[in-house]
This record gives sequence, structure tokens and C-alpha cells, in this order.
Amino acid sequence: MRVLVTGGAGFIGSHVVTALTAAGHEPVVFDALLPAVHPGEPVLPDAEFVKGDVRDAAAVAGALRGVGAVCHQAAMVGLGADFGDVPGYVSCNDLGTAVLLAEMARAGVTLLVQAGSMVVYGEGRYTCAVHGVVRPGPRAVADLAAGRFEPCCPRCGAGLVSGLVSEDAPADPRNVYATTKLAQEHLAASWARATGGRAVSLRYHNVYGPGMPSDTPYAGVASFFRSALERGQAPTVFEDGGQRRDFVHVGDVARANAAALTAAGGEGHTAYNVGSGEPHTVGEMAAALAGAFGGPAPVVTGEYRLGDVRHITADSSRAREALGWKPEVEFADGVAEFARAPLRSPAAG
Ligand SMILES: NC(=O)c1ccc[n+]([C@@H]2O[C@H](COP(=O)([O-])OP(=O)(O)OC[C@H]3O[C@@H](n4cnc5c(N)ncnc54)[C@H](O)[C@@H]3O)[C@@H](O)[C@H]2O)c1
Ligand SMILES: [Zn+2]
Repeated sequence: MRVLVTGGAGFIGSHVVTALTAAGHEPVVFDALLPAVHPGEPVLPDAEFVKGDVRDAAAVAGALRGVGAVCHQAAMVGLGADFGDVPGYVSCNDLGTAVLLAEMARAGVTLLVQAGSMVVYGEGRYTCAVHGVVRPGPRAVADLAAGRFEPCCPRCGAGLVSGLVSEDAPADPRNVYATTKLAQEHLAASWARATGGRAVSLRYHNVYGPGMPSDTPYAGVASFFRSALERGQAPTVFEDGGQRRDFVHVGDVARANAAALTAAGGEGHTAYNVGSGEPHTVGEMAAALAGAFGGPAPVVTGEYRLGDVRHITADSSRAREALGWKPEVEFADGVAEFARAPLRSPAAG
């Protein structure tokens, strides 16, 4: 099947293109090559390429000719440098998705796989011994400054046990990027209802692997650690390093896209967590990378960022059952590869 991969020149999109080709599809890359992401000559994946912006209806309509499905990866990612970035996020991510969906409806393309994100959940799943599953709000500055990083029960203040978040957990987007990722899902669900199409949102957890952008304001924590090691410095770990995450290899994320295209039957919208199923702390990631790289051991700084959540780890069993997908890259193997893999160079300025 001919599949349009929006954002196909990006970190994850490039790997999606490779996975689709391996699965026998014919991917077509559609990417605006945003200067913030591609400051120099972009390294394009081996596929047909259309330079275009998802907000440009005519360009999207042209690219959709002969296409059977869309893998929508294009988005502005990360937390943004300041609040002035908000219109850019909403424009690229939500207006862009709206234009894409309208053109898909017009062209009769009925299958969408959308790059979702675990950021739609906010904090992960927590259980109080007395009050069961509870939803702690954002952490207070005073607690963070005093080194009290673990969220407490909002009802009794007791310590909580963190667990795996499932797709049925309520959405709780805590920043602009997260809000736009959630809106993308709602738009996809509305499109599916209105057109009888099928939409799948794959809520990627912390993706890492070859081609990840290095040290930019938008990069993930694994890339910050790797970039520090490359400069000969120790990776610096925020809080006490005990933040739990689900680090999933980009190859597994790409294969989940291919599986979703094949397995998606029926109609309507479904969301799936895409994680490794094996939580690790941020401190463990830093130590494993430093070890594999052969660099200095991580330094735990106690610094914090207000927008960060403490723990967020995935229950990916729904994707395993419904999509016939499972992660294949073990943490130790993925980190060893990532320690040496090429990264995408940062944007200038
Ligand atoms: N990296 C992660 O850990 C992670 C986690 C969860 C979800 N995601 C999602 O995965 C997708 C891909 O992320 P990535 O990490 O590969 O980011 P990336 O920045 O490497 O790639 C995004 C690509 O989309 C393109 N793009 C952006 N806006 C566009 C527009 N308006 N029109 C056309 N192209 C546009 C960019 O030029 C870039 O090539 C995004 O939707 C992101 O929200 C990423
Ligand atoms: Zn309680």
C-alpha cells in the first residue's frame, strides 16, 4: 500500500519509513523540513519525498493521490523555549492535523495512524494504600525545592505507589505541547466518526535510538545524557534520579506503526500505549549510557523543572493484543547501540 508519512524526514518518521518499506508498503515522505529541526542539509530516508506543510491543503491534496493510508508523524515537539511558541505548536500540530484530515475526507482516504504521546496522561498511575487510585496534581515548588520529589496522596498526604498507566486513564495534559497532542487525538476521533474512517493513536513513551536529535531545547533526556558524554562531561541527572520512565527504542515504535496499518480493522478511533513495558529510572538510563559509552558516571544534581512529572510508565498490553506487536529491543542492547549511534545535529542558534 502507498502510505503518506507526514514528518517522514524526522527522527521517528525516518524509522517509520524504513519499517513500512520492510513490511512491503510504499512510503511517501511528506515533510516541511522545519528549519528548527533541519538546520542544514537534511538526511532523508530512502523513499519518494514531497516537500510540503500539512497546513497547506493544496500540497496535502496533491500528496494524497493514490495513497491508501496516512502515518501522521509531523508535529512540533518538545516543551518550547517560552510561551511565545504557543501559536506555532497549535498551528503545526492541531491546524495541521485538521487540514490533513479534511483533505483525507475529501480524497476518500480512510485509514490514519497518528503519532500520539504519553504526555496526554500528565502524571502516571498512583495508588494510595487507603484511597486506592488517586490523581496527584502538579508538584509544589516548595516540595521540589526541599527535595520532596514524590507526589503524595491528594486526600491524605500519604506516600503513593506508582504503577503502569493504561489507555483508559483520564487525560491530564500539563503543557501546551501535551494539549496539542491530545487535541490531535480528538480531531482524529471526530474525523473517524464523521467519515467512517479508522484512526489509531499510538501513544509513544520516551523514544530513543539512532538519529535522535542531540542537545536541543526539544530533545529527550537520553539525548541530553549522550550529548554530555560526547563532550567528555558526566551526564547530569535532575531530582534524585528516581523518576521512572518507559524508554522505548525507535525501531519498536516504527514497527508499531507498520503493525497498526495492517491490524487496524473496523472503524472508529483507538489509542494504544507504545512502550517497552519495562520501566527504568532516569538515573538508570544515565548510568547505563555512561557505562556503554565509557564516560564519567552520572552526577545527580537535585535540580528540577516545574513541568516535569515524576513517574510515567506504560501498560502496552493493549497494543500487544490488538496489533500483534511487541517490543523487540532490550534496554541493555538499545542503550549500548545508542551510546555509539549517530545523532542528528542540533539546530544552529
Ligand atoms: N520523540 C519522542 O520521544 C516522542 C514521544 C511521543 C510522541 N512523539 C511524536 O512523534 C512524532 C515525531 O516526533 P520526532 O521526535 O520524530 O520529531 P522530529 O522533530 O524529529 O520530526 C518531526 C518532523 O515533522 C516535520 N514537521 C513539523 N511540522 C510540520 C508541518 N507543519 N508540516 C510538515 N512537516 C512538519 C519536521 O520538519 C520534522 O521532520 C511527533 O508527532 C511527536 O509528537 C515523539
Ligand atoms: Zn490517601
